[in-house]
Amino acid sequence: MELIKNKEMPKDAPIGVFDSGVGGLTVAREIMRQIPNEKIIYFGDTARVPYGSKSKETITKYARQIVRFLQGQNVKAIVVACNTASAYALEEIEKELDIPMLGVVKPGAKVAAETTKNGNIGVIGTEGTIGSRIYSTYINKINPEIKVIGKACPLFVPLVEEGLWEDPVTDEIATRYLGSLIDSGIDTLILGCTHYPLIRSTLRKIVGEGVTLVNPAYETARELKELLEEENLLNREEQGLGTERYRFYVSDMADKFRTFANSILKYGILSAKTIHIENY
Ligand code: DGL
Repeated sequence: MELIKNKEMPKDAPIGVFDSGVGGLTVAREIMRQIPNEKIIYFGDTARVPYGSKSKETITKYARQIVRFLQGQNVKAIVVACNTASAYALEEIEKELDIPMLGVVKPGAKVAAETTKNGNIGVIGTEGTIGSRIYSTYINKINPEIKVIGKACPLFVPLVEEGLWEDPVTDEIATRYLGSLIDSGIDTLILGCTHYPLIRSTLRKIVGEGVTLVNPAYETARELKELLEEENLLNREEQGLGTERYRFYVSDMADKFRTFANSILKYGILSAKTIHIENY
C-alpha cells in the first residue's frame, strides 16, 4: 500500500484510533472532549481481544493490519489507544508511516515523571505492558533516578467489561493487587491500561488521597492536540449538526461493542460495522 503523505492531508480528515476492543473508547472519549472538531474512525479488534496476554510478534502483526485498514480510510494521524499495542508495536510501525502516530505510553510516562515528588511511581497494566517495562524505559529516559514499580492486574479488564466498576469484588481484587505498590511508598500511580480509568474511583479509594493517579488517556488527547497543531493538521472548523463525526468498526460482536460504547460515550453511537481485519 502506498504511503499517504502528510502534506496532502486535509485538516478535516479523520483521526484513526484503535484498540484491542472497547478499552480504547476511554481514549476516544478524551479526544472527543478535548478536540471536538476532530473526526474519528475507531477500530476495536473485538475478534482478537485480549492483547494483554499475547506476544510482541502477534500484537505487531495485528497492529500492522489495523494501520493498513485505517490508512485506507485516509486518516491524517493514528492513535494507538491501547497500552499493550503501544508497548509492543508502536516503535516499529511508526517508522513505516508517513503520517503522525501516537501511543498512550509516552504521554502517561512523561506526566508521571513530572508529577512524582518522592521518585516512586507505580504502574498497573496488562501482563504484556508490565512485562515490556516500557513505562520505566520512558520514565528513566527522563529521570534515571526514578524508581518504577510495575504490577500486572489481569483481572481488572474482565471486571470492567462485566460492568463491575463499583463492586465489592473489584474492591477486593484491587486491594490485593495494589497492596505491594502501596507498601513501596509510591506517590504516583499510572493507570497503564485503557480500562482502568473506568474503575478510577475504586482505585482512588484503595490507594488513598496521597497518591496521584495519572490517566494516560487524558494525557494522550492533550499531546495529540499539540502534535496536530505542530503538524498544521488541527481542524479548527466547528462541526455542524448532522456531520458524521465518529465512525466505529470492529472485527466481531458489533452489537456488544455498541452497548458498551453507549454506556461510556456521551455521544450515542449509531452503528458499529464489522470488517474482516485478517484481510488487511
Ligand atoms: N487495551 C488493552 C491495554 O490497554 C487492555 C485489554 C487487552 O488486554 O486487550 O493494554
